[in-house]
Amino acid sequence: MSGYFDAIAPLSYDPDADGLAFRAYDPDEMVMGKRMADQLRFAVAFWHSFGWEGGDPFGGQTFERPWFPANTMELAEMRANAAFDFFKVLRAPFFCFHDHDVRPEGASLGESRDRLERIADIFETRMAETGTGLLWGTANLFTNRRFMAGAATNPDPEVFAYCAATVKACLDVTHRLNGENYVLWGGREGYETLLNTDLGAELDHMGRFLSLVVEYKHKIGFKGAILIEPKPQEPTKHQYDYDVATVFGFLQRYGLENEVKLNIEQGHAILAGHSFEHELALANALGVFGSIDMNRNDYQSGWDTDQFPNNVPEVALAYYEILKGGGFTTGGTNFDSKLRRQSLDAEDLVAAHAGAFDVCARGLKAAAKMLEDDRLEAARRARYAGWNEPWAKAMLEKGATLEGIAAEAEAKGLDPQPVSGRQERLENLVNRYV
Ligand code: GLC
Ligand code: MN
Repeated sequence: MSGYFDAIAPLSYDPDADGLAFRAYDPDEMVMGKRMADQLRFAVAFWHSFGWEGGDPFGGQTFERPWFPANTMELAEMRANAAFDFFKVLRAPFFCFHDHDVRPEGASLGESRDRLERIADIFETRMAETGTGLLWGTANLFTNRRFMAGAATNPDPEVFAYCAATVKACLDVTHRLNGENYVLWGGREGYETLLNTDLGAELDHMGRFLSLVVEYKHKIGFKGAILIEPKPQEPTKHQYDYDVATVFGFLQRYGLENEVKLNIEQGHAILAGHSFEHELALANALGVFGSIDMNRNDYQSGWDTDQFPNNVPEVALAYYEILKGGGFTTGGTNFDSKLRRQSLDAEDLVAAHAGAFDVCARGLKAAAKMLEDDRLEAARRARYAGWNEPWAKAMLEKGATLEGIAAEAEAKGLDPQPVSGRQERLENLVNRYV
């Protein structure tokens, strides 16, 4: 045991507390027919909270943790236990991890797999003790230099095979730990320069790789969802999983649109030039919404700073889309967020998560109230009310023709009159809730 979080008592809901507590997140409060904890399904990201050492492009480690540098199994085991001590403090419903965050790599694929299984033994015991479940597992196919030219899209077929072995091991462990999803984030699946890249071949390899993963999932009876996480660039110049629309087109091309869903991250949405709620609304419209990575980026720095969320109105609009789509099924809210590198203390890590839980709870409650009151949706329905009329519906049906519609439009002497979009009134309405 590391004892690292020993001095911090488990947090509870106490709106008037002075110290560390949840002020808005009350796990048992009912929101739209479910416990708040079951609506939000919070997960702690192992990599940022227990793997990341506080470096940035201009300086290295700032955090001192008893398990760093975590390059032996002994230290990795200490870290695994410290993580679960932390989950207990937060009463965290879920966590997420990559193979690379939880075990030092072995000298061979086989040794790496064995080490992962040994850490999973600890996870299994501590999951039973704490009640923290696994939201998703994943493989890190981007940090090691062997992946520098891509994972499944690497020009070298040996890397493709290496990735197959790695993902198989991670999916096996995720399945064993009753993970609710398995995520693929293609950090290196893209290119640095088109001058050396066969873009068409790389997309075909990536499509084939994903099919192999889906086939294997069914073979072993893994019931969780396979999730793709879009990001437009960084670390590559251009990533193939650019955004929701791009990933959906890719899934359709390889016949996987009914097999794979999306893990949508706030920061990645912004980097792609979208709002988070746009990406969520589109995923719902296309039937591929799965889960979210909740964080925010700094609006000045323009890169993926992965900060903890602290903007209630923004978060409310995200949960509005999620609730409107029926809420999470296998998915949840994973805090893919890291401390600032000056936030050195154990308390900082707890406070960051407690604050994030509260921001999301307030956003969720505002979103639920907005939906229940139905004023925003009533305005939206009114805007499209014309489409309820039989003649309008008929235009969308099979058998309707462009020339038929044209003739009818002329015969009726149509002269459509513009109506207000009422944007400011709707914005005012939303501001009453957040
Ligand atoms: C990396 C990415 C993060 C992603 C995670 C899972 O840490 O930065 O966005 O969610 O990997 O693969
Ligand atoms: Mn993420």
